[in-house]
Amino acid sequence: MRIDVVSIFPQMFDAVRGSGMTRIALERKKLQLELWDPRNFCEDRYRRVDERPYGGGPGMVMQAPPLAAAIRAARSSGHGRVICLSPQGPRLTQERVRSLAGAPALVLLAGRYEGIDQRLLDKEVDEEVSIGDYVLAGGELPAMVLIEALVRYLPGVLGNAGSVEADSFSDDMLDWPHYTRPEDFEGARVPAPLLTGNHEEIRRWRLTQALGQTWLRRPDLLAQKQLNEEERQLLAAFRKQYEEQESSE
Ligand code: ADE
Repeated sequence: MRIDVVSIFPQMFDAVRGSGMTRIALERKKLQLELWDPRNFCEDRYRRVDERPYGGGPGMVMQAPPLAAAIRAARSSGHGRVICLSPQGPRLTQERVRSLAGAPALVLLAGRYEGIDQRLLDKEVDEEVSIGDYVLAGGELPAMVLIEALVRYLPGVLGNAGSVEADSFSDDMLDWPHYTRPEDFEGARVPAPLLTGNHEEIRRWRLTQALGQTWLRRPDLLAQKQLNEEERQLLAAFRKQYEEQESSE
């Protein structure tokens, strides 16, 4: 996959270049990441990319011409859809990540200041994406969030190929709890089913936990999900045990 990022802080992306899964993806040539600084596309000799807003008010607005030139240069190299990271967009979901991961190329626009000239968004941007209902100082960290989420889907990047689909949200559920050695940590023991070596028992325990934790923490996710007969039974058993425990405390 090729990702072209338009940002006035290209150096921030050294973080994803240099570590973790994104570094592996780059090294294995599964990901190509290019940065385009709109300051290099300015007519202005002071390399300015922001101006005061028409109509007045606080803050500065990113100007359309240098952004348009940078996006057009990025797009002509990568041929991808243009996504602007912005709190105005629909919230990013695992489903959206999965569908974007199928694209051969994307252009990500990371804005700064109070906003971006609307005409640039209208002419050059295909969609906006928000990473959550809070406001950051710029789109760079959100772009990196999206890049890392995408990279997990690239074949040959994640160590265990099965684990993207086993994750939280890939099945509209939270993950089950994980345990590793030691078996006893300060008196807290690993749940017994995980020590049986019985694959069927382990599968059922994990599914029960995923359903139960989703019911406890994110009932909104569960409400959207069609449970099959086994899932209904396992969740009912979890709830019964949970409620008995609550009433005995
Ligand atoms: N830019 C600033 N805040 C943002 C957010 N929450 N999501 C995406 N881009 C942003």
